[in-house]
This record gives sequence, C-alpha cells and structure tokens, in this order.
Amino acid sequence: MLSTNFAGIELKNPTVLASGILGANAELLIRIANAGAGAVTMKSIGPSERNGHNNPTVIAWEHGLLNAVGLPSAGCKKMEEEWKLLEKSPVSIIASIYGANVPEFEEVARAVAEKKPAMIEANISCPNSEKHGQLFGTSAEASAEVISAVKKEIGKIPLIAKLTPQALNIGEIAKACEEAGADAICAINTVQGMLINIEAHKPILHFKKGGISGSAIKPVAVKCIWDIYEAVKIPILGMGGVSSGRDAIELMQAGATAIGIGSGVYYHGPKVFKKVCNEIREWMQKNNYKNVKELVGIAHD
Ligand SMILES: Cc1cc2nc3c(=O)[nH]c(=O)nc-3n(C[C@H](O)[C@H](O)[C@H](O)COP(=O)(O)O)c2cc1C
Repeated sequence: MLSTNFAGIELKNPTVLASGILGANAELLIRIANAGAGAVTMKSIGPSERNGHNNPTVIAWEHGLLNAVGLPSAGCKKMEEEWKLLEKSPVSIIASIYGANVPEFEEVARAVAEKKPAMIEANISCPNSEKHGQLFGTSAEASAEVISAVKKEIGKIPLIAKLTPQALNIGEIAKACEEAGADAICAINTVQGMLINIEAHKPILHFKKGGISGSAIKPVAVKCIWDIYEAVKIPILGMGGVSSGRDAIELMQAGATAIGIGSGVYYHGPKVFKKVCNEIREWMQKNNYKNVKELVGIAHD
C-alpha cells in the first residue's frame, strides 16, 4: 500500500529523513532507518571541514524552528568511517552536497559519488552557498549550471535538486534543473526569518538571521510543490512542516511522490516516521485508496 518508486529507487514507504536534522552521523541515520523511514538524507557535505555558526543555532518557537546552523561539515574527504557504517543501512542513503561555487560542487560530487549512495541531493538552496551574493536556487541559470556540472560527475546515480522557496518563480527553477539533467526535485528548504528577544533587544540566534522550518512553512511548501508539479515531469520529494499523515497526504496531493520530515523528528522523535505512515494508511483505507501513488498530484484539475 505505501511502497513507492522515487526516481528509480524503491522505497518501502514514502517518508524520508530531511537533510541536516540529524547531521551526517551514521549511527543516528541508521537509527532513523530502523525507526521506519523509507530513506534517509545525510546532512549537506561540503568540500572541506567547516565549523558552522556559534550557539544559539536552533530555537523552537510556537510555530516551528528557526535555525542558522551554518552547514558544519567534516568535509567530503574526512568521512571514511561514516561511509563504512552507512553500508549497513537497511534503507537507501541520500547524500546531500553543497559548494560555494561550481568547481566546489564538482569536487564534492566526485568524492561522494565514489561512495555510491542511492541518490545525491545538490543543496542549491542554502544561504551559505552563495554565488554573487545570491542563492544559486533563486536563479534558473545558476541552478542549471550547478546541476549539469554535478550530473556530469556522478554518472548514473540519480540527482535531486533541492530548491529554495525564496525563488520568485520556483516552477521555472525546477524546469531549468530538469532540463540540466536533474532526476528529481526536493522542495522546500527553509524560509528565511528572524526573531528578536524583546527584553534583551537582541536577535535570538547568534547569526541573527536563520531558516524557518516546521508547521509555520507548510502552506509555503504546498504552494511550491504545486507550482513545481505543474512545471516538470520528474518526481518531487516534498517537505516543509510534515508531522502527521494528513500533512503528508496534503503535500502528495499537491504533487509530491515522497515526503521529507525534518522538524517533525525534533518534535516527535524517530517514531514520527511510523506515526506518519500509520496515519497515511488509515486515511487511505477510509477513503478507498489502494496505493500511495494514486495520491500524487490529485488536487490538480
Ligand atoms: C537544524 C536544521 C538543519 C538543516 N540542515 C540542512 C542541510 O544541511 N541541508 C539541507 O539541504 N537542508 C537542511 N535543512 C532543511 C531541511 O532539510 C528541510 O528542507 C526543512 O527543514 C523543511 O522541512 P521540515 O519543516 O520538515 O523541517 C535543515 C533544517 C534544520 C531545521
């Protein structure tokens, strides 16, 4: 009932751990795999070691999370132990990569492809990977340049382009990525935001500005997935504010084939994957659906 195929990769259910929520630590990723996720995404990997920002880097407020972790990474050449442990994962591994420019993306893509993850996700939507002061993912041209360069490096491994909701026309960016060789689209990354402690008269995060995730951004995710579904033929890994079966079904009806869960793990722990799957199954039984694939895009005319 819940098994599906995402860009050629078989998933026992459509739930996927979103990138960054549990780092690139293999033991934690395998714990999530054993807790019922259909696939797990590693934290974005960069070209060299990077510490990330100072604390506080993540705060939970009443409608979700605000984070400015700053892409801490061991760097693509220092992860031998993690890769060895990840071979024992019972589900597919998606490796997320970032770079500050096209040659860096190529370098990381080459190193990561050697480890043969099931899929590679190019994070072209993080504020820390800027080109000319702009997120790659807000420009169709810059997005296409990264995607075609990464695609050349990784051979047959399916490539996912992870997009930002900050793009003026996300459908156009998705289309440019599809034409440049992406096999799937992931949307959405966090929405830029900021919170101030009014007693201290200071921004709450050390980095001041951050990315909003969790329930606050679900309507943004639904709209972006809708627009992408109308623009491309490749499948969508939808995410943003999912912590229940109903949330997941909403993103699927907008056009997502698979569903990422990030902040939901923070709020509910690893059991969120089984909870979401059980709730999807119950809803499908009640509404006479036999296969989760039937739900994809059905809210479109
Ligand atoms: C603490 C934290 C760290 C994140 N790190 C990454 C990252 O390294 N790479 C990436 O592509 N997305 C990263 N994200 C974004 C998530 O993968 C996801 O796109 C976003 O949080 C929306 O999903 P959610 O509402 O289920 O959390 C991060 C999100 C959070 C909250």
